[in-house]
Amino acid sequence: MKVIAVYNIKGGVGKTATAVNLSYAATIDGNKVLLLDIDPQGASSFYFKTKPSMDGDANKILFGGRSIESAIRQTEFTGLDILPADSKYRKLDHFLYEMKKSDKWLSKLFSPVRKQYDYVFIDCPPSITSVSRNLFENADAMLVPVIPTILSIRTYEQLREFFKEEGFDKKKLFPFFSMYERRKNMHNESMDIFASNYPECIKIAIPYNSEIERMGEYLAPIVHKYPYAEASEMYMKLWKKLKKSL
Ligand SMILES: Nc1ncnc2c1ncn2[C@@H]1O[C@H](COP(=O)(O)OP(=O)(O)O)[C@@H](O)[C@H]1O
Ligand SMILES: [Mg+2]
Repeated sequence: MKVIAVYNIKGGVGKTATAVNLSYAATIDGNKVLLLDIDPQGASSFYFKTKPSMDGDANKILFGGRSIESAIRQTEFTGLDILPADSKYRKLDHFLYEMKKSDKWLSKLFSPVRKQYDYVFIDCPPSITSVSRNLFENADAMLVPVIPTILSIRTYEQLREFFKEEGFDKKKLFPFFSMYERRKNMHNESMDIFASNYPECIKIAIPYNSEIERMGEYLAPIVHKYPYAEASEMYMKLWKKLKKSL
């Protein structure tokens, strides 16, 4: 079982769109996949029409005592399950801060389902917290959507610097381009510079496509709804390239 966290310090860069579409791409590629939505805003859960169960006490699942299995829900897509977000996840950071041996939290959380899934995707909230540090330490890959603009590239540089300073493994970082607009010279130029400065970059650009924004209306991954759209083909390619690198 490999754990892939979709992460960026910034919000609004396409993390959720990526988590939803790549977990679906990995599923139709023949894998058993679990999507863990730990962003308390719950956008991934919304796209997959799932809610946390009323009796499923997120505290007990995430903070020990109760197995993760009881909170996992099936999506309408065979082979793709989800652990829906819960507003209580806001307390997760505080919990990890207080917990002894918190660096083992993620692997302990997954141990009951390790054999059931080939891949786990994590839709992360933005910002650097104890939760993100746990992922930096324990995830197999950090997939980082980067919009090809100066500011967005800067946040990737900051993340890379943070990895270096804190001794996390930089080989886990897999940036790629998100919301790419071909007509914009700035996007084309930034992508060239980024790819030559950061060889770890997966050279795939998900184009800007308003059908991705409309996922909130049709409630499904664009890869499912419009499989022949360029964005869907790029998500599939991104998945195949990432899989090879893991
Ligand atoms: N490639 C894209 N083209 C057009 N809109 C996109 C694309 N990727 C994401 N979006 C839209 O941009 C907004 C932010 O994306 P989202 O995936 O929620 O970002 P994050 O999870 O990083 O906050 C959403 O409205 C989403 O539908
Ligand atoms: Mg999000």
